Amino acid sequence: KILPVIMAGGSGKRLWPLSRENYPKQFLSLDNSQNSMLQQTICRLNGIAHEPPLIICNEEHRFIAAEQLRQLDKTLGGIFLEPEGRNTAPAIALAAFQAIKNSQDPLLLILAADHVIGDIDAFQHSVQAGAEHAAVGKLVVFGVDANTPETGYGYIKRGVQCGSGYIVEQFVEKPSREVAEQYLLSGEYCWNSGMFLFRASRYLDALNEYRPDIFSACKKATEVQKLDLDFIRIDKNAFMACPDESIDYAIMEHTPDAVMVPMNAKWNDVGGFEALWKISEKDNGGNVFSGDVYHVDCENSFIHTDSKLVVAAGVKDLIIVSTKDSILVTNKSCVQEIGSIVQALKKNA
Ligand code: GDD
Ligand code: MG
Repeated sequence: KILPVIMAGGSGKRLWPLSRENYPKQFLSLDNSQNSMLQQTICRLNGIAHEPPLIICNEEHRFIAAEQLRQLDKTLGGIFLEPEGRNTAPAIALAAFQAIKNSQDPLLLILAADHVIGDIDAFQHSVQAGAEHAAVGKLVVFGVDANTPETGYGYIKRGVQCGSGYIVEQFVEKPSREVAEQYLLSGEYCWNSGMFLFRASRYLDALNEYRPDIFSACKKATEVQKLDLDFIRIDKNAFMACPDESIDYAIMEHTPDAVMVPMNAKWNDVGGFEALWKISEKDNGGNVFSGDVYHVDCENSFIHTDSKLVVAAGVKDLIIVSTKDSILVTNKSCVQEIGSIVQALKKNA
């Protein structure tokens, strides 16, 4: 059986000020759905035989997460609380150690809590296909057709075909613009969706091989656990001492045992405002307006306001977001920089 593991500890900085430190994007609904991205991630599993999902998030967000999960009325495997995020390699390790403690080495389906997926059948079909490879010890990564030289993604080079997938010949996390352009032109690469499937023990073996430091820190962190309600608390000091690294850099770039299973499920990781503009319904001028917006002659813009009236005239390709305490005005072409700006603001605060 498959054990879904939902990584919900990101901060969604590039969507500031919609996504805030105390209420990051995975807890928001960005596509006009009634459910938040986290809730949609769980609902998307209906139809796949699976164990109660494990959620991993920051301690600070425990009540938001618990409340959103309660609304779904589904059995949970527990909510792991991280005192501070250490990125995805350690988060997945916590889940893997826990899974091995509790049962017989299940297949872990690693999901990001902040993806929009338009074609749920295609998603489920790829997961079932991936399970066959994971069952025989492969580290499965789900690939998405690449169509722009995006630098925020991992790139996977397709090797020989093997059943429903391809041997991963090369995995490169977040290449430079020039390299991404070459990859796109070659037609041999796809994007990493950020979803993975493998046996818990297989992941831990790989982690122990490439990052024994992360392996031992997480092993130690899960040795002593405190349960309260659905929350699973770990050894704080042990986890704080764990290095910060993503699964992509820690394992996927090194392992020779990865298989890529294509997943073309109208996937979007809503990484920034341009992505959000792309997936939203637009008017004839290509604009997305939400809230109290008065507009004249606008083109291809995204304007959102929580409460104050926003007047926009003659603007093109702009992002304007007005919330209770902050206003963002930026060109669509600058949206990737928002993350580092927010980081800098935080340092100066
Ligand atoms: N629990 C926990 N703790 N979750 C985390 C942490 C953490 O410290 N850091 C990130 N996450 C969660 C995020 O909430 C998100 O759901 C997921 O893990 C991926 O993290 P991101 O920070 O969004 O990664 P990324 O977008 O830069 O890159 C990854 O995803 C791309 C596709 O969206 C990589 O896997 C890329 O290779 C991939 O292309
Ligand atoms: Mg992301």
